Amino acid sequence: EVYNPNGKYRVVSTKPMPGTRWINLLVDQGCRVEICHLKKTILSVEDIIDLIGNKCDGVIGQLTEDWGETLFSALSKAGGKAFSNMAVGYNNVDVEAANKYGIAVGNTPGVLTETTAELAASLSLAAARRIVEADGFMRAGLYEGWLPHLFVGNLLKGQTVGVIGAGRIGSAYARMMFVTAYGQFLKANGEQPVTWKRASSMEEVLREADLISLHPVLDKTTYHLVNKERLAMMKKEAILVNCSRGPVIDEVALVDHLRENPMFRVGLDVFEEEPFMKPGLADMKNAIVVPHIASASKWTREGMATLAALNVLGRIKGYPILSDPNR
Ligand code: DGY
Repeated sequence: EVYNPNGKYRVVSTKPMPGTRWINLLVDQGCRVEICHLKKTILSVEDIIDLIGNKCDGVIGQLTEDWGETLFSALSKAGGKAFSNMAVGYNNVDVEAANKYGIAVGNTPGVLTETTAELAASLSLAAARRIVEADGFMRAGLYEGWLPHLFVGNLLKGQTVGVIGAGRIGSAYARMMFVTAYGQFLKANGEQPVTWKRASSMEEVLREADLISLHPVLDKTTYHLVNKERLAMMKKEAILVNCSRGPVIDEVALVDHLRENPMFRVGLDVFEEEPFMKPGLADMKNAIVVPHIASASKWTREGMATLAALNVLGRIKGYPILSDPNR
């Protein structure tokens, strides 16, 4: 799909992206916009080299693509100046390689903060109240009438919420859960709001929290941050939510932990080797799994596409990249 075929600058998007604002702004600024419609969810390095071709000023890519030395070298040979991930996370991008070829890298923070935090909050509540399990039970025609012990879950009010990775998204999640779990608006009833506490170590959070949400960046220091030993530190009835990156949790250890601790529950948006789940995870009744949809609201996805386009456009026009993850 090509817009403005005679445009001066060639910008390629490796996937169709939501909305038209991002296309219009590139076209208005003299770009020829090419959108790849290959019927493949994940493009290979070779697919992307073909898309880059001989002349390409900038590329908007996706978190499923491996943006390393090979692609940045190909983009630089084609005269490229800019690459933007349509994601806030950029663990799929070798920024050093990009810098080596003089290509600026952008990401899309901000527009997905609340959307992602809302999914983490939804998973927290759904896990606490066993909503997915209960839904499956209804659909299977198993409901025979109200029972005192039917799908008894956890009450979040009054519980300790732990956030690991208190950046933009982690902090937004914490604000939402402050209302939910601590009931600060119940002050009128004489209850005092609970104040924030900065834990002295991650282990302290793991040991003390009833509900833990993970929001760190994935890098060498956070790979398998939640491993067998750390899972064992958590309360037997704790809830763990992950809307960051799958490899932050050792998923094999998690499956064992879920099997051995039926009251421990997880809500997962991301997986160690997407699109796959480690064997056994899909059979766990104490796990809620959704397909990496934390930023999937219309407003956010259009915002991400627009921000990615602005990143690439700005750099083509000679400005520093708008949203540079290095800064
Ligand atoms: C991101 O932006 O990094 C999310 O994982 C997808 O929105």
